[in-house]
Amino acid sequence: MNETRKPIVVVGSVTMDMVTCTPQIPRIGQTVIGTSFSTTPGGKGANQAVAAARLGYPVQFVGMVGDDVYGPQLIDNLFHAGVDTSAMLAASGSSGLAPIFLAENGQNAIVVVPGANGKVDSAYVDKHLHVIRNAGMVLCQLELPMATIDHTLALCAQFDVPVMLDPAPAAALSDPVWKQVAWFTPNETEAAFYIDGGSDPEPVARELLARDLRGIVLKRGAEGAYVAVAGGKAGWVQPFAVDAIDTVAAGDCFNGAFAVALLEGKDPWAAARFACAASAISVTRHGAQASMPSRADLKSFLASRG
Ligand SMILES: Nc1ncnc2c1ncn2[C@@H]1O[C@H](COP(=O)(O)OP(=O)(O)OP(=O)(O)O)[C@@H](O)[C@H]1O
Ligand SMILES: [Mg+2]
Repeated sequence: MNETRKPIVVVGSVTMDMVTCTPQIPRIGQTVIGTSFSTTPGGKGANQAVAAARLGYPVQFVGMVGDDVYGPQLIDNLFHAGVDTSAMLAASGSSGLAPIFLAENGQNAIVVVPGANGKVDSAYVDKHLHVIRNAGMVLCQLELPMATIDHTLALCAQFDVPVMLDPAPAAALSDPVWKQVAWFTPNETEAAFYIDGGSDPEPVARELLARDLRGIVLKRGAEGAYVAVAGGKAGWVQPFAVDAIDTVAAGDCFNGAFAVALLEGKDPWAAARFACAASAISVTRHGAQASMPSRADLKSFLASRG
């Protein structure tokens, strides 16, 4: 069967998390004996791509890895999740890497090395104009250089492609970026970076809409999500009650699923409910990408919840 759906295109980051479990985080100059080490693929861009692909939607990734041992592993991981990796490039130098120390008392210390993510520039994006022009929606986060985000969003405006921007980590945005975003999806701390609105989402959403955004989802963890549409309705989308064991990448799961549902024609409230269900499943499982539900998982979860 020929694919007629326009793909979700993620222009984003891909990172290898390097998790070292240790009795305690070493002090400066100290060496401690750790208990285990593992590498797990992450990066907000890659997480969102996997979330959408696991739901059976066509996804293409525009981003870079390094020419180190992690590069091929990161590309393979996306490919095996069903993501089209044909536009990905190996730049010289390291991949995006995140050495993480996890102590037994739950404390952590993390160093994020952007590596190849920092090399994703406008010239590389321009080599994939056809990919962006053909996208049903472009998903961005803020783990790439801001000049690349600005350029990508300008292309989306030119080709009339809707953009979902996850402002993570939160950073100042240029005026054209605000105007070009169809869906803006901060969590509570990210929203507070932009608007000093307190914990009530209603004024926060109202002030954000005043910046020319067309749609907003305020992700609120176990409280669910607050959705507001320019010139339209605003309100809560209730969470699904689950026993959460690991909320890492819940927001990324939400974004991938929300994009899929919107492109499948759901209205924003139905799409947010679909995304709340997907991310509720993800918090009942360990890991970032490993926790993303398949379409079958999501269907049976929704059926069980009426
Ligand atoms: N404990 C929970 N129970 C049910 N649903 C949850 C829970 N935590 C998160 N979710 C769902 O996941 C969505 C996103 O979670 P959250 O607001 O924590 O995003 P985030 O901070 O961006 O996450 P990330 O760690 O991926 O950046 C929520 O809107 C909600 O639908
Ligand atoms: Mg997030």
